[in-house]
Amino acid sequence: MVNLNQTIQLNIISQNYEGLGVAKVDDLVVFVDGAIKGETVKAKITKVTKNYAVAKLVEVIKASPNRIKPLCPYFNICGGCSLLHMDYVAGLNLKLDAFNETLRKIGKIDYKATKIYGMEEPHSYRNKIQMPAGTSDKNKLVFGYYKKDSHDVVAIEDCLVQSDNVTKVINFVKNVCNELNITAYNEQTKTGAIRHILVRENKNSELMVVIVTNEEKINNEDILVEKIINKFGNVKSIIKNINTMHNNVILGANSICLFGKDEIVDEILGLKFKISHKSFFQINRRQTEKLYSLVLDNLGENAKEMNVIDGYCGVGSISLCLAKKVKHVYGIEIVEEAINDAKNNAVLNNITNASFYVGKVEDLIDDFIDKNIDCIVVDPPRKGIEEKVLRSIINANIKKIIYVSCNPATLARDLGILNGYYDVKDISLVDMFCMTNGVESIATLSLKR
Ligand SMILES: C[S@@+](CC[C@H](N)C(=O)[O-])C[C@H]1O[C@@H](n2cnc3c(N)ncnc32)[C@H](O)[C@@H]1O
Repeated sequence: MVNLNQTIQLNIISQNYEGLGVAKVDDLVVFVDGAIKGETVKAKITKVTKNYAVAKLVEVIKASPNRIKPLCPYFNICGGCSLLHMDYVAGLNLKLDAFNETLRKIGKIDYKATKIYGMEEPHSYRNKIQMPAGTSDKNKLVFGYYKKDSHDVVAIEDCLVQSDNVTKVINFVKNVCNELNITAYNEQTKTGAIRHILVRENKNSELMVVIVTNEEKINNEDILVEKIINKFGNVKSIIKNINTMHNNVILGANSICLFGKDEIVDEILGLKFKISHKSFFQINRRQTEKLYSLVLDNLGENAKEMNVIDGYCGVGSISLCLAKKVKHVYGIEIVEEAINDAKNNAVLNNITNASFYVGKVEDLIDDFIDKNIDCIVVDPPRKGIEEKVLRSIINANIKKIIYVSCNPATLARDLGILNGYYDVKDISLVDMFCMTNGVESIATLSLKR
């Protein structure tokens, strides 16, 4: 029995998939943010429900050997890297255990992943940063991240997961906005100009800067653009995205290119990819190369003879890597701009054995089934695959499925549906989102004989 606001001593018996410490009082599970498996802590109960309680860490009485001093001054304030208080390798093992637990609980899958590919240098790995704008106590525009569980912006001057180049340009835009009296959008009053800044960086340190505004035309916009271009020779593209909707969606429907083109060219496994500001592209280049290499390795020996569908193909990054190895690739993607990028990327890389189609996988899949498909690669968004798609795959007896996922829970659910028809041959994890609880996984399945 625990009571609200009570401070109690707890033994942390495990950590859940979000990294929260788990303790038990009688039969009630208590989640403690920031506590590590094996620790004894003092924590204050902040929420009690019928099935569980939540407590705030007050003091670590007996620390785990895996506890380290977080390298970031904003740890526990901003809602970002939740595993910064743990040794990196211990964090990787935690993700592996949590993944296997999810497979077992949700998918009822009798398979344990044993490999997680971490990074040698797990910092400065993001090639895309998006920060909301807020207003400081001194009434200045700031960029940062939302405070945990809130929409208050914590001003951030530097961040471990972004590169120095990106930090410099974001801080510069902030300072120039303040010089020019360009204000931050306020969610309550729905006034103010700048909502977000988004920066993409490619392998050659070239940058695309997207300024998301609440207004069609912001004060002194031309001066802001000129100052950015004069200061940073590596900024190749500046986009204004106008979002006048009062909701949590970051990008609005209309964009205007203020400098350069709406594209930045990045490189994966020796192939070039043009990416427009609205297209999805994996956020960690080095780990993406690892992930895609695993997709290619798992095609098996007769890859050259294979016709492959790449479902949810984005700008064609997996498709074009596949095209180098297989007979033909059919890419399907819902976002028209991304399919245009994919087609241009095929031309850019002299690839002629890949074709791309705009639409929902669930609407188009059956049209491809009679094309002698040997393998389907899927890399869906977090909500996973529509059951209709899985049924089409099962009915068509497609021999091999390579499922890339950023959400263990929906992967486990979908593998549960495929179970009985397909055998899991391999599951590996790739640490794409280092120091957070996120993980990318790749499952290879073959049709049961
Ligand atoms: C996780 S991303 C994968 C993109 C690509 N495979 C890559 O590695 O860059 C998922 C993609 O699925 C697209 N998408 C979301 N729902 C879809 C649907 N129902 N049918 C087709 N594509 C969809 C998104 O626009 C996004 O580009």
